[in-house]
Amino acid sequence: MKKLAIFGSGAGSNAENICVYFNKSSDIKLVMMCTNRKDAFIVERAKKLKIPMVFTSKTELENFDDLAKILVKYQVDYIILAGFLLKIPSKMIEQYPNKIINIHPALLPKYGGKGMYGENIYKAVLENKETESGISVHFVNQNYDEGKIIFQKSFSLSPDENLESLTAKIHELEQSLYPKIIEKTLFSL
Ligand code: GAR
Repeated sequence: MKKLAIFGSGAGSNAENICVYFNKSSDIKLVMMCTNRKDAFIVERAKKLKIPMVFTSKTELENFDDLAKILVKYQVDYIILAGFLLKIPSKMIEQYPNKIINIHPALLPKYGGKGMYGENIYKAVLENKETESGISVHFVNQNYDEGKIIFQKSFSLSPDENLESLTAKIHELEQSLYPKIIEKTLFSL
C-alpha cells in the first residue's frame, strides 16, 4: 500500500477529488493532508472526508524537523502538492527524492516561478494572447516549478477566451487527469 499526503493552501478541490478517486483503491491511500493556512477551504474538506489535517507554518516547513516526524508517523511515501503555495525546502526534497509531485495550471516552463499561481497565471496567459494553455504535472525540486515534467496536456484558447472560461477549462482538466497521472506515476517508480 502506497501512502499519500496532500499539501494545499487553497480551496482543496484537487485534494478532495484525489481523496475520492483513491477511496476504493487497495494500492494507494490518502493518509493525511497538510496546509499552511488555517482558514483555507481545504481544511473543511479534510474534516468532511475524515482525513487528518496537519498545520505547518512557513518556519516549521523550512525547519522541517517536526513535520518530518509527522510524515513518518503517518508512514507517508509520496507527497502530492495541490495548490500548495510555500516553497518546499531542500531537506524535504532530500527525504522524498522524486516522491513529491505538483500540478501547475499552465504549460511549464512558461508561466512558472514564484508568484505564479491560480488567477495570476490565467490573467498573464490572456494578456499575452496565448493561443494555447494547459496543465503540467511535475516532480518537485529546489526551484519553483522547475522539476522534471511528468505529463502535460494542452488545449487551444478561443479568440473570446476569458478568465472564467479559462479557469473552468483548467479545473476540468485537473479534475479528470491529476488522480490518474498520480496513479500511473506511482506505479512506474
Ligand atoms: C489548482 O488549479 C492548481 O493547479 C494551482 O492551484 C489550484 C488549487 O486549487 N496550483 C498552482 O497554481 C501552483 N503554482 P484547489 O485548491 O481547488 O485544488
